[in-house]
Amino acid sequence: MVGSVEGARGSKCYKHPVILAIETSCDDTCAAIVQPDGRRALSNVVHTQTEHARYGGVVPEVASRAHLERLDGVVKESLFAAGLSLDDVQSVAVTVRPGLIGALLVGVAAAKGLAYARRLPLVPVNHLEGHVAAAYLADPALEPPFVALIASGGHTALYHVVGVDRGMRLLGETLDDAAGEALDKGARMLGLGFPGGPAISRAARDGDPDRHDFPVGLKNRANLDFSFSGLKTSLLYKLKGMDAERVREELPHLAAGYEAAVVEALSRKLLRAAQITEARVLVVAGGVAANALLRRTLEEECVRLEVDLVIPPPELCTDNAAMIGAAAAHTPAVAYPDYLALNARSV
Ligand code: KG4
Ligand code: ZN
Repeated sequence: MVGSVEGARGSKCYKHPVILAIETSCDDTCAAIVQPDGRRALSNVVHTQTEHARYGGVVPEVASRAHLERLDGVVKESLFAAGLSLDDVQSVAVTVRPGLIGALLVGVAAAKGLAYARRLPLVPVNHLEGHVAAAYLADPALEPPFVALIASGGHTALYHVVGVDRGMRLLGETLDDAAGEALDKGARMLGLGFPGGPAISRAARDGDPDRHDFPVGLKNRANLDFSFSGLKTSLLYKLKGMDAERVREELPHLAAGYEAAVVEALSRKLLRAAQITEARVLVVAGGVAANALLRRTLEEECVRLEVDLVIPPPELCTDNAAMIGAAAAHTPAVAYPDYLALNARSV
């Protein structure tokens, strides 16, 4: 059996020291075991809350309660899948911001409890830094500097990452909806399921993206910001001008055009950021990075421009705790028991 032994001066020596990471910022209950260098996950357990589907979006109170019910089992499963026990955990990492406050609090309280009971340090992790850190798991040799695009349900922003522990400089961000939010709202208008990103991709499979003209927000502006409100309005007016039969016929084309406009906005601004910063490495993360059209488009562009591209596999793009463990490796820890006063923040 794997375990820990007391070291010479009373400090613990671990046979297999690992980080236990917890993520509960939205509607996925997640726990993972990550190596201390943050470059490899030994397990990554995600429990996606399906109860939100019938509401067409995440209901905060439902999310908090579901985290509360499942987190314990998800943490146990993460240790079991890694073949380790709590004795091997040298620090507990947890997402403290940004996210749904009630959902975050469940993870933070659990992490505090676990860390306190075992006199371990606690590492408070920013969810967005977590999304970027997924790239270190996807490519363990990756080193800054690089430009990162985070495109999720709550955020869409470009960052210049200059050093592993020297933070991220914001280059540009969305002025209204996040890319994932635009996909979710578009999917709802089209009568498709939730989450909208994968639903739109499925509906778009046999569609012609050029059949309907959709605007690409801030396309010709020299800045690095995004906007998706014009795209949503455009879909709304197209749908208003069609009867139910026509919407059914046009569905694949509308979905394909809408998806293509989101992908074009994201890839244009990422490539512009690369040009401005002269970055030779690009990282794409967040739930929308799971999108097959976005991945294909950027892969082709990056080959043409001879720029390296790191996009984590889809399961590391959508919310997960392995990315939180990866970020924890270069985030200052709070010593036992000082973190008892630590709080979660929604922004
Ligand atoms: O990062 P994430 O899991 O949670 C947040 O932090 O928001 O991102 C969720 C978002 C949702 O808006 C969802 O529609 C989108 O990511 N998404 C996708 C795909 N998978 C998830 N969007 C496009 N294509 C996908 N395959
Ligand atoms: Zn996220």
